This record gives sequence, C-alpha cells and structure tokens, in this order.
Amino acid sequence: MTIWDALLKLNHLLDESDPDTELSQIEHALQTAEAIRKDNKPRWFQLVGLIHDLGKLLYFYDSKGQWDVVGDTFPVGCRFSTKIIHYEFFKANPDYNNPLYNTKYGIYSPHCGLENVMLSWGHDEYMYHLAKEQSCLPPQALAMIRYHSFYPWHQEGAYKYLMNEHDEEMLRAVKEFNPYDLYSKTDKKCDIDEVKDYYLELIDEFFPKKVIDF
Ligand SMILES: [Fe+2]
Ligand SMILES: [Fe+2]
Repeated sequence: MTIWDALLKLNHLLDESDPDTELSQIEHALQTAEAIRKDNKPRWFQLVGLIHDLGKLLYFYDSKGQWDVVGDTFPVGCRFSTKIIHYEFFKANPDYNNPLYNTKYGIYSPHCGLENVMLSWGHDEYMYHLAKEQSCLPPQALAMIRYHSFYPWHQEGAYKYLMNEHDEEMLRAVKEFNPYDLYSKTDKKCDIDEVKDYYLELIDEFFPKKVIDF
C-alpha cells in the first residue's frame, strides 16, 4: 500500500483506548499534522504527525484485539516500573516473578540506550520499524514514532537508568511531539481534499519507495 491508502484503510478503526474523542483515525492524523504545520515545524515533523498512528493497521492483521495494538508501552526484560499505568496487573504477568527479568536492569546494562531495549509490542514499535527501514526520516522523527506511547518514560521520568546520551535528545523530541498528539483533537472536521495534495508530496519526500511493505 501507499502511505495514503494505509491512512484511508486505518480510517475504519475506532481506538477504544482513546478517551478524548469520537474522531476517526484520519481526522486525528490530519489534525495532528496540521497543528504541527501551523507552528512552522520542519516538514519531517509534520509527517510524523500524519503517520505516527499508522501502525494501528496491525489491528486489521494478526492482532488479538485492540489491547495488543494500542495503549501505553513499556520495556520488557527488566523490572516493570510502578509508573506504568495499571501497574498492579503486572502481578499476573509471569515476567513479574522471573528472576531474569524482575531486577532493575534485568537483561540490560546501565545506560545501554533505549535502542537496545525491547519495548512492549504495539502500533508504535511496528510503525517505527517500518519507518526506519523504508523512509529517510531523521532519528528524532523515528523516536517520536517509537516512543509516543511510552508514557512512563516521557511523562513520568521512569527508566532513566537505561538511557544513553543520544536518548536525552530523543526525549526532548518526544516531549515536543506529545502535546500535538494529545491536544490537537477538535471535533471540527478537516477538509481531506483540501490538504491531500500537500501531504502526498510530503509523503513522497520521505518515503522514496511509493509502495510500502506493511
Ligand atoms: Fe498512538
Ligand atoms: Fe495519536
């Protein structure tokens, strides 16, 4: 599919974990991108707004339900932070009692870098790998995509002990993106036809191969 066709396909999904709005996915994609564009942010940043949730397409393929596509993300292979939403439910997760995984560092080492940390699976991680392999988006853009649901990290300050120097810069980028994801939502509809050409050109700029492997 092209990125645009993927956005249209995603439009049939209503994210049950999103408490804010009855907005369709393409509305959310366009509103996020338009808010970033209005603030004169770089073109790659605008494109992140457009595609950051495109990984939710997983829902139409091998997902078992929305729980494995949406919701907050967190590292696996080390102790679950109490800052993770609904932390209490981890007590039912076998990793919680596994001595390999339930220490501060688990399978990792101090400041090993988030690049080397496995995060729980979901739309963020899927889209990150796709964009990393098939786009020429800069590292900040890839971080915004990969970590946008990693709230215990970018909102609550957890897992700092796994970060390296590069992640400090990535954290700033993710924090800059977050308000656009959260607060660009309005019930005012975006005119898709009016902005379509602008975004088609933007997509082509960063995804040189027009047809993307999903
Ligand atoms: Fe998302
Ligand atoms: Fe989003």
